[in-house]
Amino acid sequence: MTSHKKNAKLVINDKSYPLDLSSPSAGPDVLDIRHLYRDANIFTYDPGFTSTASCESEITFIDGEKGILQYRGYDIAELAKNSYYLEVCFLLLYSHLPTADELANFEERVTMHTMVHEQLINFFRGFRRDAHPMAIITGVVGALSAFYHDSTDINDPQQREIACIRMIAKLPNIVAMAYKYSIGQPYIYPSNDLDYPTNFLKMCFSVPTQEYDTNPTISRAMDRIFMLHADHEQNASTSTVRLAGSSGANPFACIAAGIACLWGPSHGGANEACLNMLREIGTVDKIPEYINRAKDKSDPFRLMGFGHRVYKNFDPRAHIMKISADEVLEILDSDDKPILKVAKELEKIALEDDYFQSKKLYPNVDYYSGIILDALGYPTSMFTPIFALSRTVGWIAQWKEMIVDPTLKIGRPRQKYTGNVNLKYIPIEDR
Ligand code: CMC
Repeated sequence: MTSHKKNAKLVINDKSYPLDLSSPSAGPDVLDIRHLYRDANIFTYDPGFTSTASCESEITFIDGEKGILQYRGYDIAELAKNSYYLEVCFLLLYSHLPTADELANFEERVTMHTMVHEQLINFFRGFRRDAHPMAIITGVVGALSAFYHDSTDINDPQQREIACIRMIAKLPNIVAMAYKYSIGQPYIYPSNDLDYPTNFLKMCFSVPTQEYDTNPTISRAMDRIFMLHADHEQNASTSTVRLAGSSGANPFACIAAGIACLWGPSHGGANEACLNMLREIGTVDKIPEYINRAKDKSDPFRLMGFGHRVYKNFDPRAHIMKISADEVLEILDSDDKPILKVAKELEKIALEDDYFQSKKLYPNVDYYSGIILDALGYPTSMFTPIFALSRTVGWIAQWKEMIVDPTLKIGRPRQKYTGNVNLKYIPIEDR
């Protein structure tokens, strides 16, 4: 839904280049510079893509100044209150809220694909037990294309569809297997009678020797973590998925690329880094020292779980996650955990601090999700894999949208070259 609004022009050395300026359905106007190189022999320079829209998308809208996040036009707070992850998956993938029949059919399809190929177990065995689960799932998800040949043809809509369903269905199993492998416990097969979050919790925390007890509040908290991480427009990992997909790579390879990108501590790895930081701080009396370090430009330390490229207001997901954290902590009676005292106090002190206020640095979703996952019993190394599992649907929805976009071209940025030119080769004895 783009409407042309007015024309703009770029004037360089008295020569004028007309550029289309269009208004999207929400968000800032967009200047179309596609033909600038052809017409003016000029590249634009935008490291970190802070002013660049890389694609048209109808999936997720963020207004960072106002702290708004919407999936397909629905506000995240409303979805978190009324919906649940699999319904949100349907919404992201098929662009409307499902009817009861559509939802039942979708859930049935996901449920029927929860098992992984039995031979995949051997794949896990090839990894060291102390391997980071992100390393394992990056490899295993990439390897799915070696197991499911019948869903790698990106030009066949049915194959695309089945690949999407397979990944949404199998990621919880793969992530849980990576966890079980790391602690030396047997893998637990999925239980198709359980809902999506409870099934995941069971695959992570049950053992064959005991009945597994579920708690609806815990399942709901898990579901919220999935839902709040489900998509976030053109972030680094999603852009990675799109870039990989633009070459025609198969969907499993594209999602594996997204997982690899998500691992970084400035992105999905922040929840793990945040909990590690809270542990390092250790006690409330050490907080001022770390606040000062975060403000010191000569120190690379940053307060993990604070700040966001797009949100210059409270991260709307953090609001919901904070409520969820309180619910979980009440049930698990973990108020005496020293790390939580540190987390609450650090948040309070940082929010009152001039430095954080002036730079609009607020806690982001990862600040609270780490606290919940820690309370549920997950080790920090599992935080980012759980983020990856949640985000898989977003990556897939964006990939699907891209594949049928008539303007699709292989992603190929240019550069501002600053190296040497035209050097003459010097024989080794003369160097
Ligand atoms: N602690 C201390 N100072 C900070 C922080 C922080 N967490 N974040 C930003 N700043 C300062 C930064 O030093 C800079 O100061 P100055 O203008 O004086 O140079 C200013 O704020 C702007 O920072 P930036 O790095 O230019 O901002 P960015 O948009 O490139 O980075 C960010 C965004 C999320 C990478 C960054 O805020 C950060 O490193 N935060 C900690 C990591 C984190 O929590 N990441 C999770 C993001 S949410 C989940 C996700 O998207 O995956």
